[in-house]
Amino acid sequence: MILLETADAMRAWSRARRAEGRTIGFAPTMGALHEGHASLARAAVRECGAAVASIFVNPTQFAPNEDFDRYPRTFEADRAMLEGIGVHALYLPSARDMYPESYSTYVEVGGVSEGLCGGSRPHFFRGVATVVTKLFNAVEPDRAYFGQKDAQQCAVIRRMARDLDTGVEIVQMPIVREADGLAMSSRNRYLGPEERARALCISRSLFEAERRMRGGLRDAAAVVAGVGAGLAETRIDYVELVDAETMRPVAAVDRPVLLAAAAWVGDTRLIDNILFTPDAPKEDAPCC
Ligand code: PAJ
Repeated sequence: MILLETADAMRAWSRARRAEGRTIGFAPTMGALHEGHASLARAAVRECGAAVASIFVNPTQFAPNEDFDRYPRTFEADRAMLEGIGVHALYLPSARDMYPESYSTYVEVGGVSEGLCGGSRPHFFRGVATVVTKLFNAVEPDRAYFGQKDAQQCAVIRRMARDLDTGVEIVQMPIVREADGLAMSSRNRYLGPEERARALCISRSLFEAERRMRGGLRDAAAVVAGVGAGLAETRIDYVELVDAETMRPVAAVDRPVLLAAAAWVGDTRLIDNILFTPDAPKEDAPCC
């Protein structure tokens, strides 16, 4: 696995691979890698002739009061994991190269960035869309892999990729969970043992809501209230049921929906979600 530290070196490597007739798959990350990240890198290796991962803890997606300084940095373990998966190139831009002095260009994605995480972290998607645009310009991937764990981020990137004519195919991979259901996250390392146990209520409440929707519950307010009650031992940031594509709230489960929750467990903010698609009404079923 080759390490590339500048956009020029990254682009030259990618163009050389493309000239060999390979497609380029890309998994962008902020490091502190776990099996969720690994699933994206494995898909890139499996589906593309050349697989690139990046590690960059992006300052512009953290607000001043957030955890940029203490975000876990585990470079040696990350490198070993990616090497073991068979990733061909690891892009490691520096903050100074990404955001040189007098840097002043940002990408803002309307609509899908609003609400959910965009409501509680107003700076967040501007930072994400900007850095992913820059990463795409350096890597020039054919396909880029993102996790459903950050479902709104996927929707924002998909919209950005389309609106800006990037030509990059955005692939959304399923959420990888611990054996007990907790969604894997780099931030799970912050949790003490008691908090780790308490954090489980997030996935449990979402699974319970999924069970009720499968059983026929269609009222969005009732679904959201059920999850809210299940999160009583956390400080809820939001629980929302939204259209899976537009991220706009819905009143009823009458299309593919995203049930998304963000909650604080101690000083750690965790997010999780489930996608749910109601069965299409059977047109030829007897009506009464
Ligand atoms: P990071 O939090 O490191 O996540 C990198 C990618 O891994 C994202 O696409 C995320 O959705 C995915 N991921 C994280 N946990 C996952 C899980 N449990 N199952 C499946 N996929 C999971 O998201 C970012 O970094 C940044 O915002 C980034 C896109 C790199 C831009 O800075």
